Amino acid sequence: MKLTYLGHASFLAEVTGKNLLFDPFISPNELARSIHTDKINADYILISHGHEDHLADAASIAKRTGATIISNFEIVTWFSKNGIPKGHPMNYGGTWSFDFGKVKMVNAVHSSTLPDGSSGGNPCGFIIRHHKDNFYFSGDTALHFDMKLMGEHDKITLAALCIGDNFTMGVDDAVIASDFIGCSKIIGMHYDTFGYIKIDHTAAKSAFRKAGKELFLMNIGETAEF
Ligand code: NI
Ligand code: MN
Repeated sequence: MKLTYLGHASFLAEVTGKNLLFDPFISPNELARSIHTDKINADYILISHGHEDHLADAASIAKRTGATIISNFEIVTWFSKNGIPKGHPMNYGGTWSFDFGKVKMVNAVHSSTLPDGSSGGNPCGFIIRHHKDNFYFSGDTALHFDMKLMGEHDKITLAALCIGDNFTMGVDDAVIASDFIGCSKIIGMHYDTFGYIKIDHTAAKSAFRKAGKELFLMNIGETAEF
């Protein structure tokens, strides 16, 4: 699976020839000045919850590309009221077959109010199943025991986990999360963007290494095959 890191919790994933954009927060991100949102090609935009730092660029990119928004019912409805009618609503535990593979919506322990104060439903994560690969995108979440169930149900081969602490799991809990989901290839996200979530990269990598896992901290704009 080919992944490009766009900063904060945003990735562009190429899955079966389709471009999946996760949690676009690019133009307000000081660290992502090298990324031009008008050059991003998306077929689908997956949004984990209603917070601004996960959807700031979703409307403009959806408008330009005609991408379908995949999120919970409340967020898809909110976008449709705001001029983005193409959406696919889901909720916890549900799986849907798209033209690139299957998406399962899983729970996350966080909050989800939208930028205008309206309800963004419940926060979520996604498991993307394609061929023999299962990619887990945690969204913003605390460590929770349901991750164990996810690992038992799906053989998760790659995971993007939040590691920045303060608002989400920090590194130590993310190491436990990677045990729960049974995955040893972890991409870090939701760190360094703001003062509260700045982390020590060397210490984070070594914490995962000690647990027999590999933590990838991608450069913003970097593309890698996993
Ligand atoms: Ni959040
Ligand atoms: Mn966030």
